[in-house]
Amino acid sequence: MQIARTLPDLRSAIASLRKTHGHIAMVPTMGALHAGHQALVHAAVASGAGVVTSIFVNPTQFAAHEDLSRYPRDEAGDLAKLGASGCHLTWLPDVETMYPPGAATMIDVAGPASRWEGAARPGHFRGVATVCARLFGQAQTDKAYFGEKDWQQVQVVTRMVTDLLLPLEIVPIPTVREPDGLALSSRNRFLTPAERAEACVLYAQLRAAAAALAGGEAAEAVLARARAALAQHGFDVDYFTLVDGPSLEPLDRLQPNARLITAARLGTVRLLDNMAA
Ligand code: PAF
Repeated sequence: MQIARTLPDLRSAIASLRKTHGHIAMVPTMGALHAGHQALVHAAVASGAGVVTSIFVNPTQFAAHEDLSRYPRDEAGDLAKLGASGCHLTWLPDVETMYPPGAATMIDVAGPASRWEGAARPGHFRGVATVCARLFGQAQTDKAYFGEKDWQQVQVVTRMVTDLLLPLEIVPIPTVREPDGLALSSRNRFLTPAERAEACVLYAQLRAAAAALAGGEAAEAVLARARAALAQHGFDVDYFTLVDGPSLEPLDRLQPNARLITAARLGTVRLLDNMAA
């Protein structure tokens, strides 16, 4: 696996990958890689593309109350995992490369970015959209792979790509879960053993809610029951709700493309999850 730390190195590595593979697929990450990221790399490699994974802890997507320095970093471990996953190239830009002096453009997505994580983490999606646009431009990628675990992020990036006519396809990949159902996340390492044991209840409640909705129960009652069950298990529920999948607009009843989405805190750890309803 090749490693690029400067833009000229990235461009020449991408040019040679394009010659060999015909097209490029990107997996944008902030490192702290786990099997969920590896699933994205595997899917990208299986597509036949030359695969570039970026590792960049993006300061602009951390809201004012969030601690950037607490974000886990393990470059050597990440590179080993990427090599083992069949990734062809890792892009490791520094902050000055991503945000050079004089850079003056940030991307604000409204619509799907407005609610939920957008409300809880002011400025978060502005940072995500901007860094993704810059990464796509740097790598001139034909596809970019994102995990459905961050459902709202996938919709925001897809909206941006559509609205700005960016010449790439966003490929969503299903969430990878622990055997008890907990969605893989770099935040899980911050759970205490007792919290970890409870954390699987989040997915259990999504499944129970999806089954109740499919059985014809009213959404309001189903959602209220799930929130109460989570509170009983020690979760501080930010939202557990039913939305239109692409737009993230709230729904009061089941309809095609409906999605259950949730964010809930266990101790200091804010867990996100979602599933089709
Ligand atoms: O999901 C992430 O790890 C980040 O939000 C992303 C997409 C790499 C942008 O920094």
